[in-house]
Amino acid sequence: MTPKSPILRLAVFVSGSGSNLQSILDACAQADFPAEVACVFCNRSDAYGLARARDAGVASLVVDDRDFPSRRAHEEVLLKGLADRPVDLVVLAGYMRILTPLFLQAFRRADGRSGVINIHPADTRDYQGAHGYEYALGIKPHGLNRLEKTKITVHWVDDGVDTGPIIAQADVPVLPEDDLRALKARGLEIEHQLYPEVIRDIAMGRYD
Ligand code: GAR
Repeated sequence: MTPKSPILRLAVFVSGSGSNLQSILDACAQADFPAEVACVFCNRSDAYGLARARDAGVASLVVDDRDFPSRRAHEEVLLKGLADRPVDLVVLAGYMRILTPLFLQAFRRADGRSGVINIHPADTRDYQGAHGYEYALGIKPHGLNRLEKTKITVHWVDDGVDTGPIIAQADVPVLPEDDLRALKARGLEIEHQLYPEVIRDIAMGRYD
């Protein structure tokens, strides 16, 4: 398969550590990878993900959501900041903020489908929102049963919270001895493989 367009230009959105961003930057640094990180957006001025962007020589944009009275006001400034940057796909990588229809509309593809993807550390059919690994361990949100495995999910983003069509999933076993730290570490390793694979497949036109 050859890439559909020369290269898929990504805007990667982060809020914190940005280890998924790092896996995408590393993949894009490979000569035959059909995507590039055109810019990194961050809604927290103190996030470590910004250092990762800087170290990779990638432009970043920071609009701290704490400076705005509403999601819409925040997104209006964010959209202005992205307006002159050519972006084909928005990649949410630990971006812990819900996007409104205003933003999603701006990044719809020509055929009307979503132009935004997200990675979630649980099966989005069972659990939505933050704290996916805690959910798998039965810690949060309501002390439910501990699962035998969780399912990392990459999905298209729609107007709901983690409700968009699923693109790919990967199992992560929950071992009897797992605490949050151990499960997260093992889960993130899987995330770091899965997300670049999905991005490559999108760039190759597999989901068109
Ligand atoms: C990842 O585990 C990602 O799946 C999760 O946040 C973490 C970000 O880690 N995202 C969500 O929970 C979204 N609902 P990172 O900043 O090291 O990539």
